[in-house]
Amino acid sequence: MNLKDMYINYFVSKGHKQIPSAPVVPENDASVLFNTAGMQPLIPYLMGKEHPYGKRLVDYQKCVRTNDLDSVGDETHHTFFEMLGNWSLGDYFKEESIAFSFEFLTSVLNIPVERLAVTVYMGDDKIPRDDVSANFWKSHGISEDRIAYLGAEDNFWIAGESGPCGGDTEIFYFRSDDEIPTKFDPKDSRWVEIWNNVFMEYYKDENGEVSELPKKNVDTGMGVERTAAILEGVNDNYLSSVWVDVIRKIEQISGLKYEENKKSMRIVADHMRTAVFILADKAGVKPSNTDRGYILRRLIRRAIRHTRYLNINVNSNWEEVLALLIIDKYSKYYSELSENKNVILDELKKEKEKFNRTLEKGLRVFEKETNGLSEISGELAFKLYDTFGFPIELTQEEASNKGLNVDIKGFEEKFKAHQELSRTASKGMFKGGLAGDSKKETRYHTATHLLNAALKIVIGPSSHQMGSNINDERMRFDFTCDHKLTEEEKQRAEDLVNEWIQAGLDVTVEEMSKEEAVKLGAEAMFIERYPDIVTVYSVGNVSKEICMGPHVKNSKEIGKFKIVKEEASSAGVRRIKAIIED
Ligand code: SER
Repeated sequence: MNLKDMYINYFVSKGHKQIPSAPVVPENDASVLFNTAGMQPLIPYLMGKEHPYGKRLVDYQKCVRTNDLDSVGDETHHTFFEMLGNWSLGDYFKEESIAFSFEFLTSVLNIPVERLAVTVYMGDDKIPRDDVSANFWKSHGISEDRIAYLGAEDNFWIAGESGPCGGDTEIFYFRSDDEIPTKFDPKDSRWVEIWNNVFMEYYKDENGEVSELPKKNVDTGMGVERTAAILEGVNDNYLSSVWVDVIRKIEQISGLKYEENKKSMRIVADHMRTAVFILADKAGVKPSNTDRGYILRRLIRRAIRHTRYLNINVNSNWEEVLALLIIDKYSKYYSELSENKNVILDELKKEKEKFNRTLEKGLRVFEKETNGLSEISGELAFKLYDTFGFPIELTQEEASNKGLNVDIKGFEEKFKAHQELSRTASKGMFKGGLAGDSKKETRYHTATHLLNAALKIVIGPSSHQMGSNINDERMRFDFTCDHKLTEEEKQRAEDLVNEWIQAGLDVTVEEMSKEEAVKLGAEAMFIERYPDIVTVYSVGNVSKEICMGPHVKNSKEIGKFKIVKEEASSAGVRRIKAIIED
């Protein structure tokens, strides 16, 4: 029996009801592109709503995380994974949860207790150290040496900035042939986390205030890919039963060995599996240039590029062979895969053909223009980027295949110059193309940034901008929110914007890499759509957004801000109309 079945059977035998995996595209939550954790579809129930299946639930949940796309290619990163979870909604709490986990690991999976260690929450000035959990672990045979008490960074779990949350206890497994140390050191990478039991008893609001939830819940999560690899004694997830047949198939199609081509084979396997699951989802996402469709397109195209490195014939039906294998492998658990088989195959083929055409054109230019060169100029690298959509990493990869260097600095300079040009052009267009007072529109533009920041405080950090439209008479601003704003919420947002205007905050602009901008917490509508170098506008320290401008120099120039209307725009999206007065 495989891990998923063992997990479900065990928790069903302990009175849990199995709930179906929610779709990868969230149904009632426009604030995230994909489900990223097992608990996400259960948030309303963790907050107190009655669940139709009762108080004890168990499932395996499809999750997609594309924030560390570039790390895929190593042993452990995946853009799609399955999370096993069991929940108590106001039923059992710490003791039973720990007892279940311990029994499942040691008696069902037969993991020797010597290989296990745990962390528990050390508490803070408001919440006491979790001795209750520590004592339960001890009573189950985990010695004090194998318990580490850690702070909020490690042992307090919350999805994002606000929501249901609580201290957690994490279970670690010693994954190494070395002698097992008596004392557990959570920093020692031979100890890997396999399961997280969160005791959700608090709610943190957007101001950071923590209150008690109506019921004490348990939310646990265990990654299938990692645990399967551990149980099978392999250090590379791609060699576990979850992946190995896909890898073998890629070896067969390419005629190459995994050992010598790990990175590309992992990327092809991972991205194709994620693409198959996204295409099978009932939301009907197709490759496109926006939102989820863009992520899907990026995954497929990156997989295609890596099949080229593996010498796979681009015109063969490799994508169909891999997709069919993945569909077959998972259909028992996810019937949508076989139900939507034709759509999946059609879309993959169409996207492959489309990308092959652009890629081939670009590669011909690449061949022609790089002939006889010892280095690829910044200018050529930029042309390939601008005209043929070659990301710089593709140019670098192609160049290194030919033993050439790329003038990266030159490329970045071209890139910046181009940005400067398009910024000036967009300013010009702004002036000439839009009727009326461009100065006023600039003021409106900065006001949208402030409103965006205000809504993040009033509604919560999960509120995101979905669009805006400005003319010299008014602004419209669309944002994710699951309810009609109350009068108080509207007033608060308006007041915050006016406070910031009156505070006379300087507006500053910087250029930086996209990664750096994300690290600094800059807002961005769809980060994947931006070039590698971006401009970031800050208004004092209340707002930071990736944006092309133009903006006022100081928030005082905006004038008085007034919300005139708030209405529905589409499902989960609200629209504010606002004006500014002199
Ligand atoms: N929510 C926790 C996690 O994602 C436990 O399920 O780790």
